[in-house]
Amino acid sequence: MTDETTQEPYACGCAGAPLPRRSLLTAGLALLLAPADAFAAGEPGNAANASTVKAPNPKAIRPQPGDTFAYLSGEAKDQKVMAADLKVGDPPRLVYPVDPATGTIRSGSRVNQILLIRTDPAALTAATAPRSADGLVAYSAICTHNGCPITLLNEDGRSVVCTCHGSRFDLADNGTVLTGPATRRLAGLPIAVTDGAVTVAGAFVGALGAAPSQQ
Ligand code: FES
Repeated sequence: MTDETTQEPYACGCAGAPLPRRSLLTAGLALLLAPADAFAAGEPGNAANASTVKAPNPKAIRPQPGDTFAYLSGEAKDQKVMAADLKVGDPPRLVYPVDPATGTIRSGSRVNQILLIRTDPAALTAATAPRSADGLVAYSAICTHNGCPITLLNEDGRSVVCTCHGSRFDLADNGTVLTGPATRRLAGLPIAVTDGAVTVAGAFVGALGAAPSQQ
């Protein structure tokens, strides 16, 4: 998985258990019993399908400029992320972008899991500061080693640790890898603060997910 716009993230290696045989048999039986028109819509050359243009799933498209954010879990799940609620020293918060026009939470793609955190603005490097907002920085939350979500703040207050295999990334310096096994930095997401809410200010900067050599 190398392309941040077209591909889904590499499945987390920590949850990659194969399907049990019974599940495979059940799935096969369901396919046999499904009505014929369940397949017809996807057949090349089908007249009804030829005029059908599949619209992109708004829940799965990448963060768009102007999107707000909603918490991914916890007591505030699905609530809008306000800048004032994020303090220096707090652990990173996992959030999803939200279309402000429709309220659609873009949770249809795992790549859209974003790590938000407030850092010391004075510590941000020249590569990071332009896409931050009042010390707030945002990165893809998907570890570039093997795809686990990153949730742990290191004791230095400026780097985060992936608990799957210990990779550490410097949030104040462009998501740089400080400790492997990951070899590729985290993709950054430009953000702003609009009417007190954290918002998306641009597209991801950098490749998303696990580097090919890591898979
Ligand atoms: Fe291996 Fe993150 S998935 S260090």
